Amino acid sequence: MKIEEIKKLSREKWLPIIREESAKFLCELVKKQKPRKILEIGTCFGYSGCLMLSQSEDAFLTTIDCDEFAVAQAKKTFFDEGFAARVNVICDDGYSVLESLYKNKLKFDLIFLDGPKGQYFKYLPLLKKILSIGGFLVADDVLFHGYVKQNGPVKHKHRTIVTNLRKFLLDLSNDSNFDFKLLEFEDGVAVAKKISE
Ligand SMILES: C[S@@+](CC[C@H](N)C(=O)[O-])C[C@H]1O[C@@H](n2cnc3c(N)ncnc32)[C@H](O)[C@@H]1O
Repeated sequence: MKIEEIKKLSREKWLPIIREESAKFLCELVKKQKPRKILEIGTCFGYSGCLMLSQSEDAFLTTIDCDEFAVAQAKKTFFDEGFAARVNVICDDGYSVLESLYKNKLKFDLIFLDGPKGQYFKYLPLLKKILSIGGFLVADDVLFHGYVKQNGPVKHKHRTIVTNLRKFLLDLSNDSNFDFKLLEFEDGVAVAKKISE
């Protein structure tokens, strides 16, 4: 599958992919920082993965998604776009893969978190450990349609995800080992640079 077809498939299957401005920010970050090892949680059809790989020839991407259909499509995308040799696609639950990456002492220079929003806070302690010093953690959609910054009561159906995203942002912004920024365009992008261990 070519990258242009992904947008159409993502609309058909109701699986969102990174938006334009957030994608532009991510591409610029990869181009500037030249991370060698990138980890992505939330491969979907390989759209954001291809964007990152296209920005730096030295980058190798490890990307995780628990959806078998999405992973099969992503593998085709990476192959068709000529990135197959620089990517490892893992079909499994994000948290269990993070545990095994940590146990195996693997480190990453950039982590793009774009998976289950309600679990970002649970992933965070492991993400902090597997990120190299000087590396960046980028988390997409952290404002969850604006509900995260909204004052007053949150609708019952959104309460858990909003509470958990707030915990994630508070924990990251209070951590003195990280330089934290919240970019408030589109659905919100959290960016944190690891400055010490
Ligand atoms: C927003 S989409 C990712 C979009 C992709 N990063 C892009 O921009 O092209 C979120 C993805 O996270 C995956 N996901 C949700 N929960 C997950 C989990 N517990 N472990 C791994 N992947 C998960 C979904 O299957 C979905 O494909």
